[in-house]
Amino acid sequence: MANDQEKEAAARASLRFVKDGQIVGLGTGSTAAYFIQLLGDAVKTGLRIRGIPTSVRSGEQAASLGIPLTTLDECPEIDVTVDGADEVDPELRLIKGGGGALLREKIVASATKQLVIVADASKRVPVLGRFPLPVEVIKFAQAVVAKKIKALGAKVSLRRGPDGKPYLTDENNYILDCRFERIPDADGLARQLSDMPGVVEHGLFIGMASVVLIANGSEIVELRRGNEGSHDKNLTRGAR
Ligand code: A5P
Repeated sequence: MANDQEKEAAARASLRFVKDGQIVGLGTGSTAAYFIQLLGDAVKTGLRIRGIPTSVRSGEQAASLGIPLTTLDECPEIDVTVDGADEVDPELRLIKGGGGALLREKIVASATKQLVIVADASKRVPVLGRFPLPVEVIKFAQAVVAKKIKALGAKVSLRRGPDGKPYLTDENNYILDCRFERIPDADGLARQLSDMPGVVEHGLFIGMASVVLIANGSEIVELRRGNEGSHDKNLTRGAR
């Protein structure tokens, strides 16, 4: 099954986590865009929710579909957020930010009771790090932070847009894409990055995802964090 079909299938499976009357965080990226599209369909047929987007473009998509929007100022507690990921490890640690929205995504995730991650099978990895870790930095600090991250063993590049100019986030910062290949101690790296002056946020999301829905071919696998680590529940067996 093509990735796009898997992304849509995972997004469709996440709809059951959204209940009438809830405040819903709207993720960013191609998989989250499927969710927003499907949520728009549900709103048209009567679902009453209010959305909080994690990026300008997700907000524009939601508004175009007639999804009522609100803000963290009005609603600082979010019931459920559905978002994508670039990598997911067995402990449901994530790399996010491939789409450049990691800062608002992490803020929304931190304000969310239930973070539901939707992804195609390519995102599941035994160890994080194959995907370059996005680190959002203030412009003034980018060279200093890049040097420090290189010293940790990564190949670091300043993200650029299609016009060749540095990519600017919704908060007007730069992104350093940091290729580690393997991040065996994600918790330790997260602490080191957070301690660097000039780092606004990094794309390691640790202990945040409640549920991960992975579409693998025609199957949806549900992963949850628990005391004994994550476990797989194949939602396509039995009833479906
Ligand atoms: C956006 O900043 C990212 O965190 C996305 O959630 C991530 O890049 C996944 O994107 P896709 O769903 O497009 O693969």
